[in-house]
Amino acid sequence: MALKMDWAGANAAESAVRMRFGIGGASPSFPVRRSSSRVSMASNTAMVTGNTKKPFSPPKEVHIQVKHSLPPEKIEIFNSLQSWAEQNILVHLKHVEKCWQPSDFLPDPSSEGFHEQVKDLRERCKELPDDYFVVLVGDMITEEALPTYQTMLNTLDGVRDETGASLTPWAIWTRAWTAEENRHGDLLNKYLYLSGRVDMRQIEKTIQYLIGSGMDPGTENNPYLGFIYTSFQERATFISHGNTARQAKEHGDMKLAQICGIIAADEKRHETAYTKIVEKLFEVDPNHTILALADMMKKKISMPAHLMYDGEEKNLFDHFSAVAQRLGVYTAKDYADILEFLVGRWEVEKITGLSSEGCKAQDYVCGLAPRIRKLEERAQGRAKQKKSLAVPFSWVFGREIML
Ligand SMILES: [Fe+2]
Ligand SMILES: [Fe+2]
Repeated sequence: MALKMDWAGANAAESAVRMRFGIGGASPSFPVRRSSSRVSMASNTAMVTGNTKKPFSPPKEVHIQVKHSLPPEKIEIFNSLQSWAEQNILVHLKHVEKCWQPSDFLPDPSSEGFHEQVKDLRERCKELPDDYFVVLVGDMITEEALPTYQTMLNTLDGVRDETGASLTPWAIWTRAWTAEENRHGDLLNKYLYLSGRVDMRQIEKTIQYLIGSGMDPGTENNPYLGFIYTSFQERATFISHGNTARQAKEHGDMKLAQICGIIAADEKRHETAYTKIVEKLFEVDPNHTILALADMMKKKISMPAHLMYDGEEKNLFDHFSAVAQRLGVYTAKDYADILEFLVGRWEVEKITGLSSEGCKAQDYVCGLAPRIRKLEERAQGRAKQKKSLAVPFSWVFGREIML
C-alpha cells in the first residue's frame, strides 16, 4: 500500500511539473488519470476522443469517468448540514446591492468622455507585453467557461440544485456564487476588447469551444471531492488574479491592477466558504474526508480550462500554462503551496481516531507538498539546460510567445 501511495504521489507531482513546463509535446500535460481502487468497482463510462475531426468533441482525451461514488447514506450528512450551511456559508455571499459591477471599472459608454476614456485605457496598457496578455486572456477564458462550473456543482449528489430555483442553502449558494463569478469574465472580457491588443474573434471561439467541451475534474458526483476541488480552485484563482494585478501595477496599468485585484478578493471570499465546508466535513466525518482529499491529490487537481482549444492548437492549454508559469502568475510551486495551505487550514496533521486506511491517507497528504517541490526543482534544473521554445498564439494575432 505504501508503495502504491509513493507511486501515486510521484505521479501527481510529476504531472504538476509537466504542467509547469508544458512538457509533453503532442500529448496533454496532464497524464491519464490512474485508477483508484474505486475505479474498478464503479460503473465507468469511458469517453475517449482526441479526434478533433469529430464535431463537438473535446480537443483531447477525457479520462475515465467514475460516477456517484458517494455512498447513499452519506447524502444524509448534507441534508443534516443545511441549517449549518445557511448560517455559516451563505454569510460569505455579498448582497447584489453591495457588489461591484464590471461597469464600475470600465469607460462609461453613455458619457461624453467615453472616447477619451477608451483612449486612456489603451494608452495605459501600452506597456503591457504580449506574454502578459496571453496569460490574462487565458484567465479570462477560464472565467468565461462559468456555465461548465455551475453544471459541475450541480452534478454533486446531496447538494445539487434540483429544480433550478431550489431553496436549499446548497442550491442558493451555487446560484449566488455563479452570479458573483459571472462578473469576473464579463469585466476581463470587456477590458480586453477595449484594449485592442488581442484577437477577440479567436478568443471568443476558444470560449465557445471550451464551454462545448466541458471539464473533467474527477469529482465523481461526490460533494466531498467536489468541495475539495473548489477549495483548491478558488485559492488557485485568488493567487493567479493576485499575480496579474501585481504585474499590471509593475507595468504601470493601475486600473487593470485594480480590476484583477477586486476579482482576486472575490476568489478569496469564495475560498473561505468552500474551505469552511470541507473543515465541517473533517469535523463530522474525518475518515471519509481524508480519504477524499488523498483521492483528489492522487488524481491531481486538473485545471478547469484544461480542455481549451482555439480551433488551431491542440496543446493550447499546455502553452498557456507554460507562459503563466514563466511569468510567475501560476506555477507548480503555487500548486504545492496551495496543498500545504489547505493541509494546514484543515489541520490535517492533527486529526486523530482515523482508520488504518485513513492514517495512510493522512501520511500521504501531509508528505505530498515537499515531494512535489523536490520534483519541481529537478525538472527546473533539466529545463534550464534545454533550449527555450517560442510558439504562436492566435489570441495575439499569431505572434510568437516564449514558453
Ligand atoms: Fe472567478
Ligand atoms: Fe472563483
